[in-house]
Formats: sequence, C-alpha cells, structure tokens
Amino acid sequence: MLSVVVGGFFGDEGKGKVVAYLALNDEVNAAVRVGSVNAGHTVIWGGKEFKLRIVPSAFVNGGCKLYIGAGSLVRLDVFFREVTTLGVAGRVFVDRNAGIIEDKHVETEAGDEYLRNSIGSTLQGVGAAMVDRVMRRLKLAKDFPELSTYLVDLVDELWRILNSGGNVLIEGTQGTYLSLYHGTYPYVTSRDTTASGILSEVGLGPKHVDEVILVFKSYVTRVGSGPLPGELPLEEVINRGWLERASVTGRMRRAAPFDYDLAKRAVILNSATQAALTCLDKVFPSSARVREWGKLPPEAKRWVEDLEDVIGIPVTLIGTGDDVTHMIDRRKDLGVTK
Ligand code: IMP
Ligand code: MG
Repeated sequence: MLSVVVGGFFGDEGKGKVVAYLALNDEVNAAVRVGSVNAGHTVIWGGKEFKLRIVPSAFVNGGCKLYIGAGSLVRLDVFFREVTTLGVAGRVFVDRNAGIIEDKHVETEAGDEYLRNSIGSTLQGVGAAMVDRVMRRLKLAKDFPELSTYLVDLVDELWRILNSGGNVLIEGTQGTYLSLYHGTYPYVTSRDTTASGILSEVGLGPKHVDEVILVFKSYVTRVGSGPLPGELPLEEVINRGWLERASVTGRMRRAAPFDYDLAKRAVILNSATQAALTCLDKVFPSSARVREWGKLPPEAKRWVEDLEDVIGIPVTLIGTGDDVTHMIDRRKDLGVTK
C-alpha cells in the first residue's frame, strides 16, 4: 500500500506530526522524504522536540527504512548532522540521483536581493541548486564518495517493498500553494509541492497510490511574502494563540482563519482521498489533548463535519495538541483503509 502525505495550504500544516503518527501506528516499512532543507518538519514525541530538515519524520518508528528521493536536494552537512543526532545510520538511504546543494548555491541566494526582499525566500540555496539542475550541471548524490554507503536505486527498492505487500509512506514538504506551478507565483518555492510533483520526485506513477492524505491546519499560516486571504493583524494573531515561528528561519508566521476556497481547490489539485486536520485545540481550546472523537466538544465536532461537507472528503485524523499522541484517529470508524 502506498500513501502520500501532502500539505494543503502554505506549508507548516503539521505534516511532520501526521507522518510520525502514521509511522508509529500503522505498519510502515518505508518512508520517503521529498523536497529539500528549506522545509522544516517538527515532531514532538515523548517530551522531546525534533526539527527535521531532510530525514523523514517517520524516523520515530525504529523498524522503518528511511529514504530521500531522486527529486530531493540534499545539503551534506545538514544530512550528516541529522543522521548522527537522530541515530538513524544504517536505515537511512539516498537515491543515487538526488541533487546536492553546495556552498556556492547558498552564497548565490544570499546575494540575491529579489529572493530576499521580494519573495522572502529561506535562502537555503535550494532554488539556485534547482537552476543548476535544470542547466544540467548540478552534482548528484552518486558524485560524492562520502555518500557511497547511503546510495540506493529508490525506485527499485520501493517497487520490491510494494510488490511483497509492504507499506510505503511518502512525506511531502511545504504546501500546495507554494507550488511553482499551482501556487501564488512568484511567491512560491522552486518545485511542484502537489501530490503529482511529490510522486515524480520519488519515481512512482499516480496509479500506484492508494491514499493521498491532505494535511490542513485549523487556521492558515504563511511565512515570507505573497497573498494570504483574510490575514489577521499581528495583535489578533497573538490573541488567538496562533503566533508561530518558522522552524528553519525563525521568522514569525503570518496567520488567517481557515480558508475553505483554498481547501476545496487543494483537494482537486492533489486528488486527495482523506484529510488530516491539525491544531484543532488552537481553535477549540476545550478539545485540547482529546484522543476520541466522542469526547470532542459538540461545536468542534460540528465544525469538522461542516468542513467535510465543504471539501467532500473525510477528515480521518485530527490533531489536538503538540505531541504525536495527541491525535484522534477516525479511520476505523469511517471505514477508511489503514
Ligand atoms: P524558498 O523556497 O526557500 O526560496 O522560499 C520561497 C517561499 O516559500 C518563501 O515565501 C518561503 O517562506 C516559503 N517556504 C519555503 N519552504 C517553506 C516551508 O517549508 N514552510 C513554509 N514556507 C516555506
Ligand atoms: Mg515547516
């Protein structure tokens, strides 16, 4: 079985938490991270906070093999640091064709006023490396001897796992509206962040996919420039307890109430089969740390059910707190496959 987790808004919807939950509760044999080091995923588990920039959030499951796809762009220092910190050496692998970001890419972006001031880029060198890749001069993982023990043909590996009945989880990065093609161009990132783009980065076609899990936060946040419909003034963001800081750059995130139009379009763009909703406790504080649907306050239940009517897919997972375990899992009740 193959599942893809994808962000429904502008990134930071809580994909890291959702992936970690799935890895701990389902039988996940392999997890693949796409995208690059500009995207940070946060996992809070067992009282510890992990900030991941390249290793899949599924690392929390010690039996899960971890992969980085061909379409990804890796910074070697970030990769080796995370492998050591998380202790995942021996079960983390990189596709031979993954791209490598070098210092010169970071330097190019650091000196780019347009990226810095107009776009609000994270300046991690990702876009500059992508330029080199398109111009066919970027070095790939297989060109770096220090990566030799990590290299795999990912398509081959995944195909073998899927054919022997294994479960594969693909972890998207950023969000639908940061897509180079389908987002709020030019205020976007340097890749297609939708489910199709994610699959292309991994090397599996759309017909192999069983579930596309679209992650929405219960409100919308955005870092960097670009339109944010219904954006609230900073004071109101603070009042509502919605102020967050970006995990890679530390910048303050802008915030707005849940956007139904963006959500409906994201379902179409990603051919989503189910939705995961995070931070419900930030909109309905009385739902904090609830783990059963039946124990949610009636107004929170009604809000989720109304959302399902609007977007036309079931909300199967609901985050109610910071920890991975603060999650309501409705999949069994709703008859959705695990
Ligand atoms: P870049 O991809 O680093 O050049 O950034 C381009 C735009 O995408 C900026 O507005 C960034 O803030 C935004 N962005 C890139 N990665 C992420 C992410 O992981 N979460 C949220 N926003 C991101
Ligand atoms: Mg993030």
